[in-house]
Amino acid sequence: MKAEKFTPQNEQEIAEILTHYPTKQAALLPLLHLSQKEFGWISPEVMELVAKRLELSPAHVYGVVTFYSMFLQQPPAKYHLQVCRTLPCALMGAATVVTYLEKKLGIKAGEATKDGRFRLTEVECLASCGTAPMMRVNETYHEGLTEEKINRLLEEFNKL
Ligand code: FES
Repeated sequence: MKAEKFTPQNEQEIAEILTHYPTKQAALLPLLHLSQKEFGWISPEVMELVAKRLELSPAHVYGVVTFYSMFLQQPPAKYHLQVCRTLPCALMGAATVVTYLEKKLGIKAGEATKDGRFRLTEVECLASCGTAPMMRVNETYHEGLTEEKINRLLEEFNKL
C-alpha cells in the first residue's frame, strides 16, 4: 500500500483551513476537497491520511466520502459521466440514458473504459431536476438528454 503524504504547501493550506473551524474534525469536507485536488481522487490511503490528520476514525471519513458523489473513489477518467438516477430523473428516463451509455461505451455503470477516457457512474440528485434526465460530465451539466444529444456529446469528447 502506497503511503500518501501532504506536501509542505498542502500543510500550509490545511493550517489556514483549520483557522476557520472550531475543531479539526469540522474541517473534514474542505480537507477532502484539498486532497482530491492534490491526489486526483480519494483512495483508501488518502482516507487514512485525512483521518489521521484530523484525528477521526477512517470509518467516519469513509462514510462522508461515500455519501457525497463529488468525491471520486476511483482514479479519474478524462470524462466522468455522472448520470442522476433520483426520482425526477428516473421518471424522465435516467435508466434508459444509463443503458444507452453502457451500450455506446461498452462498459457497465461503475466502470471505466480501458483507455481511461470515460467513467460512467450513477449518482443522486444534482439539483437540476427540472431539466431531467441529466448528467454531469466533469464540472458541466448536460440536460434534457436524448439519444441524439448523447451521440453529439460523445462525438465531441472523442475529438478532444
Ligand atoms: Fe435528477 Fe434532481 S432528480 S437532478
